[in-house]
Order: sequence, then structure tokens, then C-alpha cells
Amino acid sequence: MEIGSVIELDDWCMYQLPENSADSMKNFGLPFMGAEKPEYKNVFYQSGRNAIEVLLNFIQKEFGVDAILIPDYVCGTVTDAVKRAGMEYSAYCINADLEVNVDEIKAQLDLGIKSIYVVHYFGIPVSQSLMDIISECRSKGIIVIEDITMALLSSGDFTIGFGDYIVGSLRKWFAIPDGGIICSKCMPVPDEPSNNIVSRYTNLYMLVQAMKREYVSGNFKNKNLKENYLEYYSESIKELFSDYRIYPMSEFSKRYIFNCNMDDIREKRIDNYNRLCDLVNGMNSFKVKSCSKDGAVPLGMWIECDNRDKLLQYLISCNIYCNVHWRLKESVNNPDIKFLADNVLTIPCDQRYGFYEMEYISEKLKVWEEQQ
Ligand SMILES: Cc1ncc(COP(=O)(O)O)c(C=O)c1O
Repeated sequence: MEIGSVIELDDWCMYQLPENSADSMKNFGLPFMGAEKPEYKNVFYQSGRNAIEVLLNFIQKEFGVDAILIPDYVCGTVTDAVKRAGMEYSAYCINADLEVNVDEIKAQLDLGIKSIYVVHYFGIPVSQSLMDIISECRSKGIIVIEDITMALLSSGDFTIGFGDYIVGSLRKWFAIPDGGIICSKCMPVPDEPSNNIVSRYTNLYMLVQAMKREYVSGNFKNKNLKENYLEYYSESIKELFSDYRIYPMSEFSKRYIFNCNMDDIREKRIDNYNRLCDLVNGMNSFKVKSCSKDGAVPLGMWIECDNRDKLLQYLISCNIYCNVHWRLKESVNNPDIKFLADNVLTIPCDQRYGFYEMEYISEKLKVWEEQQ
């Protein structure tokens, strides 16, 4: 058994011929849109970073917005996209509980900022004080960009969808090689790239997903399958981090997300997450920091622990592959961010799995706990 990392291609996308009619595209919506889905304009790109760069270029051209306020705790791919778009940026502080320093934003409002980037963190609800300042921003014509990458399938009472623009990475949630989105209800949106070019990254990653499907399903015809998979995987990631041209989302991925059952995926993730939380309840060697209340759908179980890298390695030795959201690419002044970057880990609980895998993870964590 192997848990986590690359989401292998699933039976559904291997064998079905989903519809891709204009109707199904019109009907596309993310859960947060609810009944307002038809009012949203959605445009799709290869990745979240592509979508962010395009959007920032677009608001510079359309509205003359040349500077943005971003949180100091965010994936380096976001800051890199801001830099590629040639935007000036300054940062506002996030603390170790992922609360925003609202006073810093207020001070920037007085300095005349024109746009702000807000990130949803792991299902943790946006505070009332942040919502208040966002309303103030919108009333002053400041463009609010909301990044829902970590909360893509959340809805309901969970506060989401308040931005003028909503951006996100789709490829982290589904069995697809690529995908990023820009949506807006009230503002003009950029065009999708008119070419149908599929990047080398997408081709390689799809191959990686197909190879993973083979080896996790126990097909050992090719003895080198896992080694070859790892080679292709590192080549695909190198490609993703070196080719920053703007690509459309592949037809393959579009068909998948236009036709998959997001309700099933949401339910599975929430059930797994809640089950895992119950199973690890009472363990002291780590703290669960993410949340699945009020319609928040977890990307994974986000924990804080001492000896993070040791735990990461230990879990790899148990065939459980976790992500770190996020390691720092540049040094920061905020000690809370440094602390988070060194101490957090995201444990997988996605739709590929069920209670059996959650129990396996908790058993391995119990062994870890006993060794601490
Ligand atoms: C919050 C956030 N936004 C955007 C991105 C960029 O998405 P992608 O990796 O699809 O480019 C990431 C990547 O991890 C992210 O964590």
C-alpha cells in the first residue's frame, strides 16, 4: 500500500467518454458558487501559477493596478507569479495560527494600495475582522483576489467566494495532470489561451499518473516501473518549475472536472478527515491545525509537530507520502512563518482512500507517538 503524493489516474477517467458539450461547460461550477453558478465566468489554465500571472497582468492592463498586498505565508509559486507579472508587492503578516494581522492591512489602506491577495488556509475560517477589512477594501475599489487552492471544494457557511476574483489550482484535488482557474461574477475576466498546446509538463505528468496507477494496482510486469516513475516524476516537476509560458488547461483535465462528481469527492474527503481526527485524538506528539467545520473540505490533515523532518521520513518509510505546505524559498523576518515552515506537514486523506487507509495512518502515527 502507498498513500499520498501524485494522484494516479482513476478508473473513471481511463474508461469513460465524458461529455464535453457547450452545456456541460456552461454548467461547470465549484461548490462555493452554489445557485449563483450561472453568474460566474470561469477561465482555465494549466496551473494555479499560470492563472495568477495572467490575472495580475490583466488587472494591470485593465485597471492600472500595479501593486498588490500579499500574505507573508504563501506558496512560493504565488510570489513568483507576482514577480513574473511585474507587480510591486508588499506583505502583511500571518501568525502561527494563520490569523491575519488586520492592523497592517488597515495601515496599507491608508497608503493607497490598489489590490490585495487573500489566501484560504486549510479550511480555517476567515475571521470576522478580516471579512470587515475586505468589505472596506471592496467599498474603496481595491481589487480583492481570493486564492481558494487550499479550500477548492469548500462551501456552505464557510466564508468563501467574497473576492472580486477567485483563483485556484485544480490539479491538487483531482486525478488530472493540470488545471488552474480564474473566476469572477462581477468583473471582466481575461481570455483563455487560444492555442490548444499541451505542455511538456502536462504530457509527462499524465504519464507519471498512468505509471503510478499501474504500480499501486500491483502490476509488476515491468520491474523498473517505480524507478521509471520516479525519473519521469522529477522530470515533470523540473518542467513545471522552468517553463513559465501560459498554457490552457488540457482537454483531458477539462473533461474530467466538468463531469466528475464533486459531491462524492467532498464527502469522501470530509469522512476520511473526520475519521483520522478521531483516531489521532489524544496523541500529543503533534497538533491538528486544519479544520473541516462549516462546509470546509480538507485538502489534507495539516499538523504541527516537533521533529517535522523526522516524522516526514518516518512516514515515507511507512509508504505514507506527505506534503509540506510550505517550505520557505526566501528568508523571512516573521518568526511565526519560519516556525510554520519548519514544523508543519499535510497528511493525505483524499478521495482515493477510505477508513482502512486512515486506520493504517493512525496506527503508524501511534507507533511514532510511542517513540517520542
Ligand atoms: C495557495 C496556493 N496558490 C497557488 C498555488 C499554485 O498552484 P499550481 O501549483 O497549480 O501552480 C499553490 C501551489 O501550491 C498554492 O499553494
